[in-house]
Amino acid sequence: MKKIIVAVDGSELSDKALDRAIFEATRHGAEVLCVNVVEGLTFLAYKREEIPDAWERLMREPNKLLAEAAQKAEAAGVRLRTLAEAGRPAETIAKLARQEKADEIIVGSRGKNALDNMLLGSVSGRLVQIAPCTIVVVR
Ligand SMILES: Nc1ncnc2c1ncn2[C@@H]1O[C@H](COP(=O)(O)OP(=O)(O)OP(=O)(O)O)[C@@H](O)[C@H]1O
Ligand SMILES: [Mg+2]
Repeated sequence: MKKIIVAVDGSELSDKALDRAIFEATRHGAEVLCVNVVEGLTFLAYKREEIPDAWERLMREPNKLLAEAAQKAEAAGVRLRTLAEAGRPAETIAKLARQEKADEIIVGSRGKNALDNMLLGSVSGRLVQIAPCTIVVVR
């Protein structure tokens, strides 16, 4: 079965990327993995057990995002796996795609930082360069 990774950051265009992944899954029966990459030094420098309270705070937003994504998919009858990963977003998503042998990555053209009038954000732009598979940029 086709395997799709959709990368979400809580922005409007990442919602649109999620919609597209759900659409593809309903049309072609694809398996969808939804990932949010958590940036931040605290997260990378410590183990969960060492900083349980800070960890819980750091994970609040990603958990909420991923739960909402799962809910949306469920409402459309699509099973969606969710994953929060720590690291640099583009590199982490590309690595995950390699590990999971994904057929496709879906991202928004811009994300939460869409302030300037650049067409591509740094995460989507970098992924276009380093993705190990087809990448779909939604706008
Ligand atoms: N931390 C993240 N985890 C998962 N996906 C992400 C993450 N950040 C961005 N994305 C994905 O990449 C898309 C483009 O976001 P990107 O961060 O490249 O643009 P931006 O926020 O507008 O600009 P900037 O480069 O300043 O961050 C988003 O719509 C989302 O699909
Ligand atoms: Mg961004």
